[in-house]
Amino acid sequence: MSECKKTNWWKKAVIYQIYPRSFKDSNGDGIGDLNGIIQKLGYLENLGIDAVWLSPVFKSPQDDNGYDISDYQDIDPMFGSLEDMENLIREAKKHNIRIIMDLVLNHSSDEHYWFKEAKKSRENPYHDYYIWRDGEEGILPNDMKAGFGGSAWEWVPELKQYYFHQFSVKQPDLNWENPKVRSELYSMINWWMNKGVGGFRLDVIDQIAKEPDKNITNNGPKLHEFIQEMSRETFQKGDIVTVGEAWGATPDIAKMFSNPDGSELSMVFQFEHIMLDTQEGKEKWDTAPLPFIKLKKVLAHWQQELYQCGWNSLFWNNHDLPRIVSRWGNDKEYRVQSAKMLAVLLHGMQGTPYIYQGEELGMTNVQYQIEDYRDIETLNMYKERKDKGYSESEIMDSIYARSRDNARTPMQWDDSANAGFTEGEPWIKANPDYAVINAADQIKDPDSVFTCYKTLIQLRKKYDVFASGRFGLLLPDDASFFAYTRENQYEKLYVICNFYGKDALCQLDGDWENMELLYGNYEKNGKINIYKPYEARIYYIKK
Ligand code: GLC
Ligand code: CA
Repeated sequence: MSECKKTNWWKKAVIYQIYPRSFKDSNGDGIGDLNGIIQKLGYLENLGIDAVWLSPVFKSPQDDNGYDISDYQDIDPMFGSLEDMENLIREAKKHNIRIIMDLVLNHSSDEHYWFKEAKKSRENPYHDYYIWRDGEEGILPNDMKAGFGGSAWEWVPELKQYYFHQFSVKQPDLNWENPKVRSELYSMINWWMNKGVGGFRLDVIDQIAKEPDKNITNNGPKLHEFIQEMSRETFQKGDIVTVGEAWGATPDIAKMFSNPDGSELSMVFQFEHIMLDTQEGKEKWDTAPLPFIKLKKVLAHWQQELYQCGWNSLFWNNHDLPRIVSRWGNDKEYRVQSAKMLAVLLHGMQGTPYIYQGEELGMTNVQYQIEDYRDIETLNMYKERKDKGYSESEIMDSIYARSRDNARTPMQWDDSANAGFTEGEPWIKANPDYAVINAADQIKDPDSVFTCYKTLIQLRKKYDVFASGRFGLLLPDDASFFAYTRENQYEKLYVICNFYGKDALCQLDGDWENMELLYGNYEKNGKINIYKPYEARIYYIKK
């Protein structure tokens, strides 16, 4: 690694997430690949993003679409070769784009060499790379459940032992207590850093310090010790960005993870705002209306808590979540306006914004027949709930609302067959709305969702207050508006969003007529205090 000066470049950056399978297929096999991404670097540069977070492209049996890695130092042939990966890193640099790899360190694939060895005998040097408990067939060590259904324990008759897996049976958990596991992972990370990657997204990182005997999955007692060691041994040697996926993060935990002293990570993904429209204590499939006032409180709380003592990531979407415009916007008559409003709301805040592929086009959820779904979590839940006696329509409604495949349909490039994603048969059907929602149309259109995102990215680069300003929530109890200020010594922003599909009167005082409007998703119209459905504006004051 070359001598490196830390720049915290990621504090002014916007990061774009690519789900490689669904982004762009270059060879007609129906699966997106690295060369497909290379073809689209111009598109990404035009949008203005600084870095791409690539969901896993490592060698994998694809039980969980690559989140089950069988070789951390090779690329799955489905996506290309190691050479293609090096090429992507190099080519992206020419477009001023850094490549962030997705590291799955909590578990490997059961087809990883380590696990294949581990399973051979209790004495095998790799046995202790995983988590085993003695037992008898049928008598589980405890009743912990796996993320994708069923028990978290899987019986291996030859060893008369169970291994622990927090996700599918093909994703055995790595044993972080074993120093050999940690040092193997660190050298692998350093190997990727030497290849010039711009950073890492760390899959379910708060689950690595699990203690299954105590039913502890995330935030185990040794979590921060492990992260600090990893950070010292790897990340701190380069000028990279790191973001940990942490479902169990509270603001206090996130402050540790994103401590400005750089001892852990740059930031985490927390999900408090994402899970609000779920019935308490139930699964994600059990939906509830969005508590709007609570959404404001939660987001404001994170903004305030992490100000100057941590760093937020800002996101509505990823490869595991339904499309935000179908969730909290309106994907029918106000699709364009509501997609823009949600973009403004998020991109006005403090933190590093993430855009998930297709979000910048306002892509929507899908409703397929069950045969057309591919996601292991969705398919397992379908079976489980069928067995429990749920009705077909109840189950399908949950899938329409929450299936991860909503995010995984092919990127909509143009209105040609399969949305221009592939010349072959796509691994998952394209959303039929690609004739009206596609990149080719939107890049030319000054009023498109794409252009809105592009503008928001430019504003973040141009005005320092987007990165540095202190957040202040306005109208906390108003039932229509999500409004806030951002303020530093020299500048102030007002971000005012009508969150719903009706005209609404904004009760905020301000010399709006004379203030500079940095962005608005409607033409200036009539009464300045009346906001149209999903209208969003950003006002600017130079102090
Ligand atoms: C994370 C990933 C998800 C994956 C899981 C197990 O939540 O985002 O896609 O299935 O971890 O690796
Ligand atoms: Ca391909």
